[in-house]
Amino acid sequence: MPLLARMLARSLVEIIAAKRDGASNSPDEIGRLISALSTGELADYQMAAWLMAVFFRGLDHAETFALTDAMLRSGRVIHLESVAGIKVDKHSTGGVGDKVSIALAPLVAACGVPVPMVSGRGLGHTGGTLDKLEAIPGFRTQLGVDDFARIVRDVGCCMIGQTAEIAPADNRIYGLRDVTATVESIPLIVASILSKKLAEGIDALVLDVKVGRGAFMKDGATARALAELLVRVGTRAGKRVVALLTDMRAPLGVAVGNAVETREALDVLAGEGPADVVECTLRLGEEMLVLGGVAGSQSEARAKLVAAIASGRGSRVAERMIDAQGGDARVVADRSRLEIGSEEIVVESPRDGYVLRADALEIGLAAVALGAGRSRADQSVDHVVGILVEKKPGARVTRGEPLARLVLRRRSGAEAIVERVRGAFAVGDEAPPPGPLVLDRMVAANSTSTP
Ligand code: URA
Repeated sequence: MPLLARMLARSLVEIIAAKRDGASNSPDEIGRLISALSTGELADYQMAAWLMAVFFRGLDHAETFALTDAMLRSGRVIHLESVAGIKVDKHSTGGVGDKVSIALAPLVAACGVPVPMVSGRGLGHTGGTLDKLEAIPGFRTQLGVDDFARIVRDVGCCMIGQTAEIAPADNRIYGLRDVTATVESIPLIVASILSKKLAEGIDALVLDVKVGRGAFMKDGATARALAELLVRVGTRAGKRVVALLTDMRAPLGVAVGNAVETREALDVLAGEGPADVVECTLRLGEEMLVLGGVAGSQSEARAKLVAAIASGRGSRVAERMIDAQGGDARVVADRSRLEIGSEEIVVESPRDGYVLRADALEIGLAAVALGAGRSRADQSVDHVVGILVEKKPGARVTRGEPLARLVLRRRSGAEAIVERVRGAFAVGDEAPPPGPLVLDRMVAANSTSTP
């Protein structure tokens, strides 16, 4: 910065004070905050104060874009020019039973669209793709950026965890948000998600914004606001972005856990799998194929995806990706190679009727209590345990029929968890009205269209 500009510029404390008082911070000021955080010139407590000011005062679009860009530039941006084609990724804002990425990435890659995917771990009631993939014996999610680029080029897709090189400011800021009750700020969430996604070397992004009890965003209005800002900021960053809002009141599919979810995702590739997981995979895949330029319409895209499942091409790409990442690729053809808890406890229906509710939040928390998830970021997970949701809302049940099964290492000591799962269900006389899986679709320029 030229000397005069530097003399006139606000100090870091003045930048924080401006946001506290409801004024805007310029892109340059936001960039200075993030680089000062990286160099140590800005202390964690000062960043935390700014985050709290943002929580109450918000950020406008320009500020959110500037924050995303500064966080992105705090690390390395992966270049995938050596990979032919339009690179497209999918990001889900997180839910219970959401194993879609594990089937989707190889399936989309099998249709000719390269998928570089940097995924996350489970935290709280929501599961994480990395934990699920690590249920595959030998599978490595902590690869360097060069291996990541090579596997995307050679196989068509690669799924890794965030490395220290990718948007390190996000890691630091998320840690501060977590302990200062500032996670639930839409602009901060948008900057956090997009700074990591934009670092992956993608050309386009499909977002699955989950809505409902099991989601981060519990209501439609907040989820729409998040989706709209994600699309807007992502588009401004030069990417083509589409967001789907999808239902997360009940878990997606049957399986909730790690190995059980990986098994279910591989079922999808084998042409099996629960209808809602298949539909969610196909809907997101359609968007990815259209953005990736290999299909002219959603119906053409769906036909390609269905053909890739039927021919086994999606499974073959999954095998090659697993092999390239050090895992036992035989799990794709033989899902019994995944280690799953040998004990089972059945939660029975207390009466005849229809399932009114299978509460994703409660089931997700029960899975965490079983050990399938974590309540703190430094905890490890047990890959073999989980919950199978046998009856979803709308299903007819008779008294004594299984509503859910807990899959465990041992039966003892799980009484409170069984009660929690039992309490997650409600059975009544009338079937609830069926709701759509995809609630809305958002594309650039705030245009919305029916799903
Ligand atoms: N997921 C992220 O990556 N960041 C957030 O802030 C929230 C969800």
